[in-house]
Amino acid sequence: MRRRTVLTGDRPTGPLHVGHYVGSLKNRLLLQQDSDQFIMLADLQALTDHVDNPEKVRENVIEVLLDYLSIGIDPTQSTIFIQSLIPQIAELTVIYLNLVTVNRLKRNPTIKTEIDQKGMGTNVTAGFLMYPVHQAADITVVKANCVPVGADQLPIIEQTNEILHSFNRIYKVDLFEKVEALIPKIGYRLPGIDGKQKMSKSLNNAIFLSDSADSVLKKVMSMYTDPTHLRVQDPGKVEGNAVFTYLDVFDPDEHAVRDLKLQYQNGGLGDVTLKKRLADILNSFLDPIRARRALFEKDKEAVFKIALAGSEKVKEVAAGTMREVKEALKLVY
Ligand code: TRP
Repeated sequence: MRRRTVLTGDRPTGPLHVGHYVGSLKNRLLLQQDSDQFIMLADLQALTDHVDNPEKVRENVIEVLLDYLSIGIDPTQSTIFIQSLIPQIAELTVIYLNLVTVNRLKRNPTIKTEIDQKGMGTNVTAGFLMYPVHQAADITVVKANCVPVGADQLPIIEQTNEILHSFNRIYKVDLFEKVEALIPKIGYRLPGIDGKQKMSKSLNNAIFLSDSADSVLKKVMSMYTDPTHLRVQDPGKVEGNAVFTYLDVFDPDEHAVRDLKLQYQNGGLGDVTLKKRLADILNSFLDPIRARRALFEKDKEAVFKIALAGSEKVKEVAAGTMREVKEALKLVY
C-alpha cells in the first residue's frame, strides 16, 4: 500500500475546542507519525460566511495555529499551511466548477444544514454554495487520499470523489485516486455542555483547548445531566447525560465509569461529585496543552513562520499537480 497522503483543515473563525480534539485533532496526532500530513488553515473558506469580518478570520489564524502546536502537531512531521497563500487551489477550483452542477451543489446536505443554521435562505452567495468544490481543490492540490474529519463533512468528501471521478473519466487520465474520509468511531459528536447540540463556539456551549482550569471547572459545573435527578439518593439517567458522555470519551478508567453509571442509575451518586471528577480529568488532559501553548505564545512570530514555511512547501507540490492537470486539459502553451 502506498504511504498515505493526508490533508485536513479548519476554518479559523474561533479557537478550537475539545469537540474538535476528539472529532479530528486526535486522529491527526496519530496520522502524522506514519503519513505525509498537510494541515490547512482555511482562511478563504472562513471568509465564505464571514464576508464582512476579515479581522476575525485574521486573528484566529494565529489562535488555531497555537492550538495545533500546543496539542502536539509537530511541524517536522506535519506541514501546516495557509489556504490563501496557495494560488493553485483557486485555479483548480475554477477547473472543477465545470464538473459539478448547480443543482448538485444545492443538494449537498452539509451546505443545506449550514444555510439553515446561518439563516442564509435565498441570499446564499455563489462563493458559499461552491465551497465544497474549493475544498475538493484543497484536498487534491497535494493529491491527498485520506481526510480525517468529523462526520458532518462526509457529504463534502463524497462530492470531492464525484468530481475526481468525472475528471479522470472526461480527460481520460488516472490522475486522482479516491479520497477516503477517516471518521473517529466514538465521541465524534461530542455534545456541548448543554448536552443537546454539537459543541460549537457560536452555540456558546464549548470547552476550548485554551480555557483556564477555572473556566473548565465552571463550565463542567453548569453541564447538562438529568434534569429529573434532583436529590443525591434519586435514581438518575445515564443516556443523554452529557457528563457521562464526556467521561466515556475522556476518562481512562473504563471500569470506574461503569461502576459510576450503575451507582448513578441506582441512586446515591450526586451530580457535583461526578462533575468534579470530570473537571479534574479534563484539566489533567488540558494541562500539558496549556503548558506548551504558554511556550509558543512567547514567540508568535516564530509560530507564524512555521505556517509560512509550510505554505512554501505546499506551493511546490501544488505546482507539480497543476502541471499534470493542465496537460490533461490541453492548457499547455
Ligand atoms: N470544511 C472544514 C470545516 O468546516 C474545513 C476544511 C476546509 C477542510 N478545507 C478542508 C477539512 C479540506 C478537510 C479537508 O471544518
